[in-house]
This record gives sequence, C-alpha cells and structure tokens, in this order.
Amino acid sequence: MKEFKILAIIAALVGITYYGIEPYAHHVMHPEVKAADFTFKDLKNVDTSLAGNTENGKALVEANCIACHAIESAGHPAMMPNADAAASYGVVPPDLSHSGRMYDKNYLANFIFDPVSAMKLSHKYPVGGAKAFPMPAYNWMTPQEIMDVVSYLQSVAPKVAEKDVNKVTYDAACGRCHSMSYAKFEATTPKDAIKAYMGATPPDLSQYIKSRKEHYLHGFINDPQLLLAGTSMPRVGLNEKAQEEVIAYMEEVGDSKKAERESVGLWVMLYTLVFAILAYLWKRKIWSEVH
Ligand code: HEC
Ligand code: HEC
Repeated sequence: MKEFKILAIIAALVGITYYGIEPYAHHVMHPEVKAADFTFKDLKNVDTSLAGNTENGKALVEANCIACHAIESAGHPAMMPNADAAASYGVVPPDLSHSGRMYDKNYLANFIFDPVSAMKLSHKYPVGGAKAFPMPAYNWMTPQEIMDVVSYLQSVAPKVAEKDVNKVTYDAACGRCHSMSYAKFEATTPKDAIKAYMGATPPDLSQYIKSRKEHYLHGFINDPQLLLAGTSMPRVGLNEKAQEEVIAYMEEVGDSKKAERESVGLWVMLYTLVFAILAYLWKRKIWSEVH
C-alpha cells in the first residue's frame, strides 16, 4: 500500500511539472512561431494573373535592370567588381539568374513595383525620408509590363542539378549579405560595406540551423519583422521550394552529422533494450536462489 502512495505522489508531481509548468515555460521562452505564408497576400499592387510577354520583358530588363544586376544565365555579366558595386549601392545587387525560379511570383512582381514595401522596410526607408533605397521602384511600369519582366526572369532561370541546388539558392538569396564560413563562403558585399549599409552586421549563418532551428528559420526568412520587430533584415520572398533549399543547405553545412546521429540513436535504444532483458533475467535467477 505504501508503495502505491509513493507512486501516486511521484505521478502527481511529474504531472504538475509536465502539464502545468513546462508548457508555460515553453510558451514564454519559445513563443509560438507562425508558419510561413507563401501567398504574400499583403502585396497587391500588381495583378499577377496577367500572362507575361517574354520578348517584351527581355527589352524592359535590358533597358532597366542590367546596369546594376548581372544576369549570367542570359549572358549579362556584372558591370563592375563587387567592391565597387558595394561602394555605389551599399550592397552588391544580386545576380538575377535564379530569381525567376526562387522568388514567389506575387512577391517578385510586387517587389519590382515597390521594393521597400515588399521587403517590409518602410520603417527604414520612409517615403520622403533622408535615405533612399538603392533600387528604384518601377511603379511607373504597367502591371502588364511588370509581368513581362517576371516572365522573362522565369525564362532565363537555368535548371540546376539536384546536388547543387541548395547551395545555388542560398548564394543567390542570402549570399550578398551573409557569409557561411563553415562552407568557406564569403558574402559578396565586403564586411565593412554591408555593416554600413544595413546598420548591423548580418551574422555568419554556419550554425544558425542549430541555434534557431528549422521552424523559426522558415518564419523568419518569410517575414523577419514578425519575429524580430524593427530588424534591418529584409523579407526575402522565396517560394516554398526555394526556402526549403536554403534551409537544407544551412543544415548540410551546420549540422552535417544529423542523419548519422539520428541513426545511432536507434542502435543505442536497441542496446538498452537487450541490456534491460538481460538484467531482468539475471535478477530472476539471483532471487530464485534467495527465496
Ligand atoms: C540602381 C541599381 C538597381 C537597378 C537599376 C535595379 N536594381 Fe534590383 N536591386 C538593387 C540592389 C542594390 C538590390 C539589393 C538591395 C538589398 O538587398 O537591400 C536589388 C535587389 C533586387 C532583387 C532581390 C530581391 C530580394 O528579395 O532579395 C531583385 C529580384 C531585383 N533587384 C530585381 C530587379 C529588376 C527586375 C530590375 C529592373 C526592372 C532591377 N532590380 C533594377 C539595385 C538595382
Ligand atoms: C540585404 C541583406 C540581407 C539578406 C539578403 C539576408 N539577410 Fe539575414 N540578416 C541581415 C541582417 C542585417 C541581419 C541582422 C539583423 C539584426 O541584427 O537585426 C540578419 C539576420 C539574420 C538571421 C538572424 C536572426 C535572429 O534571430 O537573430 C538569420 C537566421 C538570417 N538573417 C537568415 C537569412 C537567410 C536564410 C537569408 C536568405 C534567404 C537572409 N538572411 C538574407 C541581412 C540580410
């Protein structure tokens, strides 16, 4: 009877800790992160149901974008070395070869129309403020013209081999700001320039898969302001697949032993199980002699 009372007290204490205190502590220390929203429904300046004309898009891009952006896949190299581009614009304008593949279509169209609101940086670049965002807003283009540009960018995006795609997407989406030293990757914008431009140094992302975890990263890339209000990191409007590639790359680099670790776990449990059975049989043998 005594044993049952002790068991009941232990069960009650464990229950209170597990169901009463733990969820509360968890909810305070790790507030719930909203799932990423890949519809970008707050952006509605451009009617993205219009079918784009690739030929016209090509002319528009050549007239408006390649002065700043390389598009290697379409044969447009960068106009100047990275250090000079950073000195001119604050940050190296990314190569647009992969943008048609990795950005959400709605985000991309609305970004071209108004980069600051698409990136959710209006607090940093208020209308009429002293600082201007380095990329002009193409709000003078008609929605049809913007969709032509989007269609052209989609048409020049090369197919990337499965084994390389995670790194390629990371470099194209994050590489102008974030180094990844464990992969020997240096951000394209020089260190001092990027700090001056952003007002904060973008951290080296080698270990962020461990410190922030996948779920947080999904929410953060998709809407940084929601998780870190006032941060200078822009929203990066990746589609779901591209975002998964970026996070998979962070995991490949920062937690390369994950699969191995998880498979070892199974063997450890099996070992404990075999050991428990042996211990039980041994106990039975000893006690049978005592009785
Ligand atoms: C005066 C230079 C300049 C011109 C012209 C320009 N851009 Fe940009 N663009 C930039 C810079 C600088 C950035 C990076 C800004 C940042 O990360 O804060 C950028 C970023 C981008 C991005 C990345 C968006 C993201 O979410 O990461 C895309 C896509 C883009 N530009 C498309 C275009 C297109 C399409 C055109 C032509 C219609 C164009 N740009 C014209 C300077 C320019
Ligand atoms: C235009 C530059 C820029 C780009 C592009 C960019 N970031 Fe950032 N990022 C920053 C800056 C600056 C910070 C530091 C923000 C701060 O301290 O408020 C940051 C912070 C972060 C953090 C830390 C968040 C935290 O909780 O502390 C993560 C994770 C991150 N970025 C991931 C990414 C990923 C992944 C991409 C590509 C999909 C990306 N960033 C693209 C500039 C950038």
